Amino acid sequence: MRIDVLTLFPGMFEGFLEEGIVRVARSKGLLDVVTHDFRAFATDKHRSVDDRPYGGGPGMVLMCGPVFACDESVVAAGRAAGQEGEPKRIMLTPQGRRLDQDLLEELHQEPWLSVLCGHYEGFDERIREGLEPLEVSIGDYVLSGGEVPAMVLIDGITRLLPGALGHPDGARSDSFACGPLLEGPQYTRPRVFRDMEVPAVLLSGDHGAVARWRHEQAELRTQARRPDLLGRADENEHTSQ
Ligand code: ADE
Repeated sequence: MRIDVLTLFPGMFEGFLEEGIVRVARSKGLLDVVTHDFRAFATDKHRSVDDRPYGGGPGMVLMCGPVFACDESVVAAGRAAGQEGEPKRIMLTPQGRRLDQDLLEELHQEPWLSVLCGHYEGFDERIREGLEPLEVSIGDYVLSGGEVPAMVLIDGITRLLPGALGHPDGARSDSFACGPLLEGPQYTRPRVFRDMEVPAVLLSGDHGAVARWRHEQAELRTQARRPDLLGRADENEHTSQ
């Protein structure tokens, strides 16, 4: 999978791309992430990428010129690297579709994504009209730019790529990945730590009992922390009948 990132701050991605699962996926050839600084496509001598809004008002608006030129360069570079057609374009904005595991599942199947990170008060509306991106929000709060949301998106996609996680089922057993339940408690060595013991059932060697206990714990945890998810499961049962 190829992901191009259009940003004013490519340096923010350096550590992110060099560590953890994203580094592993890149080194295995499962993922190619290329950052592009759209300031490089500014045409005036100040290298402007934003300007005051027509009609007045606070803040600055990202201009069409540098963003469209950067997009064209991304398409050309992707095709030169063997991609076909056009990338699926994503724009990170608090106004977008809320990111969840279903959306990650959809997006990880795309061969080529182009991710546009915004700043300032917003984008010139013609960027939306001309590029028709899928707008994605990582939650109902406003961050100073789309870079951190882009990293959230890329991390969530990367761990779904076949072969990225050490354990083939790793991504599938996590909370949200296999239904509406949160993941229950996990333990590792030592068996006793500061008088806190690992539940006996996990040491019993009885796989059926372990599976039942885990399911029960997942239900209890979901009930305590996210009862809305159990409601959603009931609704689904209702609608499928
Ligand atoms: N840019 C600023 N805030 C954002 C958010 N919550 N989600 C996606 N992009 C953003």
